[in-house]
Amino acid sequence: MDALLLTWPAIAVQLLVAVLTLLAWRRYLSPLANVPGPFAASFSRWWHIRHILIGDQNLQLVKLHEKHGHFVRIAHNEVSVSHPDGIKQILLQPLWKAKWYELLQLPDYRYKPPMATLDPKKKVERSRNLASGYTLSNVIKSEDAISRTIEMLLDWMNEYAEKSEPMHLDKFFTYTAFDIVGEVVFSKKFGFLQEGEDIGNSIANSLALNAYAAVGGFLQPWNLIVANPLVTWLRIMPMGHLFDTTMKAIGERVRNQDARFDLLAHWFKMLAQHPERMKLRDIHAQATTSVGAGADTVSCGLQSFIYHMLHHPTAWDRVRAEIDAARRDRGLCSDRVVAFEHAQQLPYLQACIKEALRIFGPVPMGLPRVAPKGGLTIGDYTFPAGTILSINPWAVHHSKEIWGPDASEFNPDRWLSDSAAALDKYWIPFGAGYNSCPGQNIAKMELSKILATLVRDYDIRQVNKDQQWKYKAYFTVVPHSWPCYIEKRKDQASF
Ligand code: HEM
Repeated sequence: MDALLLTWPAIAVQLLVAVLTLLAWRRYLSPLANVPGPFAASFSRWWHIRHILIGDQNLQLVKLHEKHGHFVRIAHNEVSVSHPDGIKQILLQPLWKAKWYELLQLPDYRYKPPMATLDPKKKVERSRNLASGYTLSNVIKSEDAISRTIEMLLDWMNEYAEKSEPMHLDKFFTYTAFDIVGEVVFSKKFGFLQEGEDIGNSIANSLALNAYAAVGGFLQPWNLIVANPLVTWLRIMPMGHLFDTTMKAIGERVRNQDARFDLLAHWFKMLAQHPERMKLRDIHAQATTSVGAGADTVSCGLQSFIYHMLHHPTAWDRVRAEIDAARRDRGLCSDRVVAFEHAQQLPYLQACIKEALRIFGPVPMGLPRVAPKGGLTIGDYTFPAGTILSINPWAVHHSKEIWGPDASEFNPDRWLSDSAAALDKYWIPFGAGYNSCPGQNIAKMELSKILATLVRDYDIRQVNKDQQWKYKAYFTVVPHSWPCYIEKRKDQASF
């Protein structure tokens, strides 16, 4: 009998029975069995991974929440939540982050930034060491360097305008965003705008990393096979490329006598003052995360604004009229690149930026947290301890319950209505709570300055106005393939 149990066919049958039992338990007996969602998702993570790789996880999530309501089971152990109390109960509480975040130890497990730290207390401690560089008062110190970088984008736009050739704004926005990250973090551009091309295939690499980062975190512990020091040394994975780019920039920055008091300066100062609190590797890790997190996201925001405004020309005209009035009546917005302080005083421009980040946000993945001991009750459901509960910005931003029947329409006026303050707490392109984006001051400055300047000075039209852009919603979403003709504004007002 014992011999029979140990033959290969017998072992295979026993394994099969065990797997089928596990799948049946997950589907019919697990405490999440009655949470609605795709049938395939109730067994495993594969439904979710499949849609991440197809690149439509954002659209799937919006559709599924429309069909099933506040809770959608997207994996055997994860529920996506769009309940209006979800943000408060999940993101704004100090809940542990799901293990997925450990993938963001880039390039390997020796480098642990706050983003990859699951324990909220430890994450906050790590972030505190790095936070001073991201404050608005510090970011403003880089505004001149940011303006000079934006001028290089304008030079390219002028060149395309003169040649009357289609311009791929998606690429140039990504170059600009990368170069600005370089200035803010290392006091030096990476050089994308100088060359007008994807130097060293960094942007192509970023897309590969984007797909890998989105799914790799679900493949633990197997992902450690690729995220280890040997693979880093071999330089064969996309995170190795990102890390090399960052380390090269840090090396140059350390030798640069003219560097500003940039983000690195803040972090080195903290390291010198508190060597007991952090290590040099923490700086390398955070610099790598910032380079990885700060370019595609801003490019997406810039693109979303221009693309949606081209389809809503009245909104474009209103922003332009607002800027013209600010110049004429208050002497604002007259520099070649609009000052951040001035752009912040343009309520309709700001409403359009907010709406662009709502309708097509750069982050299409859910932000996953773990239900604490004792479980978590949201609405009518109590989720047992250990359930992964995620808030997907796309699902929240497209909820008709929150935004009304026009949730999926671009309507900047919603931000000027009486309900704007109430809506604000559901606006989460930068996440919310202890893990929200530390780079948001940088992003808001870039978006405000670039977009105010572009609307003020250029007429833009798509080569084919009916052509929809293309994109893949992996870890972030970066559209492409919507070339435009650029013209310098003809009726340029002189005030
Ligand atoms: C429109 C532009 C941006 C958007 C929409 C955005 C959004 C986000 C989101 C949603 C998160 C994660 C929240 C979570 O997991 O709970 C995040 C994290 C992060 N972002 Fe941004 N981001 C943007 C721009 C930037 C920029 C310009 C930088 C820096 C140069 C930056 C640096 C980071 C870093 C370092 C993290 C990791 C979190 C941490 O260490 O605490 N982001 N961002």
